[in-house]
Amino acid sequence: MRPKMVCICCHVSREKIEEVIYEGACSFEEIQQKTECSMGCGTCREQVEQIMEETLKKK
Ligand code: FES
Repeated sequence: MRPKMVCICCHVSREKIEEVIYEGACSFEEIQQKTECSMGCGTCREQVEQIMEETLKKK
């Protein structure tokens, strides 16, 4: 199955975002730098932040 894209503009999947969080990213800016997500229209930001909160809790 193809991973669901969180950031359509930059082709970044939820898995990729979770991966960089597990590797130590703990802010939106860090996630953005490491995955290059949210560099386009910006509508995915809220979703990225939500994934970040959920993943940091699970960590
Ligand atoms: S969907 Fe992420 S910047 Fe547009």
